[in-house]
Amino acid sequence: MLIEFTVNGKEHTMDIRPTMRLVDLLREELGLTGTKEGCSEGECGSCTVIMNGKAVNSCLVLAPQVRGKEILTIEALEKDGQLDRLQESFINNIAVQCGYCTPGMLMSAKALLMANPHPTEEEIKLSIAGNLCRCTGYNKIVHAIKAASEGI
Ligand code: FES
Ligand code: FES
Repeated sequence: MLIEFTVNGKEHTMDIRPTMRLVDLLREELGLTGTKEGCSEGECGSCTVIMNGKAVNSCLVLAPQVRGKEILTIEALEKDGQLDRLQESFINNIAVQCGYCTPGMLMSAKALLMANPHPTEEEIKLSIAGNLCRCTGYNKIVHAIKAASEGI
């Protein structure tokens, strides 16, 4: 089936299998491998992308649901060599952990700041509640998101 959609500002028209998932569309068809697949069942958040302004688990979105939508992936955060302030804040606050959970954490945080530029700590924690890291703590991540929201 033919669908039209936008990814990171670029329009696409593609003939896709109706059962294809968004994570496969991004990684395998468009080569946007920054989005990671962990659990494949909506539990870990590593596949988080932003669809029409909201963070979604791309392993749970079917490609036909993307028709007419605007998708942002981790690749959209850096522009012309300039990192997004969230990425800078993650680096500055030593919140970059592994490459598996970090893209999803960043996209959940980005969706939060797009909707709410000055969130409370509770709102920040809620925004990344669906992003699991099995190795370490979340304090530095929460701190990095807070610092980015304060322009530090
Ligand atoms: S891979 Fe999608 S939520 Fe885990
Ligand atoms: S899952 Fe990424 S650092 Fe633990």
